[in-house]
Amino acid sequence: MNLIETIGYVRTDLQSLHDWTNHQFGMRSMSSSRVAFGRTHKWFGYEVILLKPNAKIKKGHWDARVNRLGDRILPGWDCALLCHYPPGVGMKPHYDHPVFEPLVGLVNIGHATFRIGNQEHKLEDGQVIKFDSSILHELLPVVSERWSLSFRRIKPH
Ligand SMILES: [Fe+2]
Repeated sequence: MNLIETIGYVRTDLQSLHDWTNHQFGMRSMSSSRVAFGRTHKWFGYEVILLKPNAKIKKGHWDARVNRLGDRILPGWDCALLCHYPPGVGMKPHYDHPVFEPLVGLVNIGHATFRIGNQEHKLEDGQVIKFDSSILHELLPVVSERWSLSFRRIKPH
């Protein structure tokens, strides 16, 4: 069974999506995270400060493009996380924070190798996937600059 589902590709808007990522300001590092070392990020919709056991939720940035993509990829999304990985940076094996519903919708911008469970998937530029983030997953260190825009719902509380 495939642990990722490809739900489509960003094609016509791909160049403008790359341009958009390169014009983001206010990218920050997640100082509390040991699994995302060297990565920078920016929250849209709601921002979730991933403390354990209790996350803190506050308002994030607003962007029409993010809203449009999120409504197509994961209707009812609460948070969008834009991440930048310079060459050599990946993400160690981890489970996403339990404050989120496990289903993640993700736009891959650039090239990446994603591992989930016992599977390895090459992600293409513009590929849009869904996966269950309660399954152990990791991003191998990228060879060239890569971005991701991932959408999540917050569990009702
Ligand atoms: Fe994750």
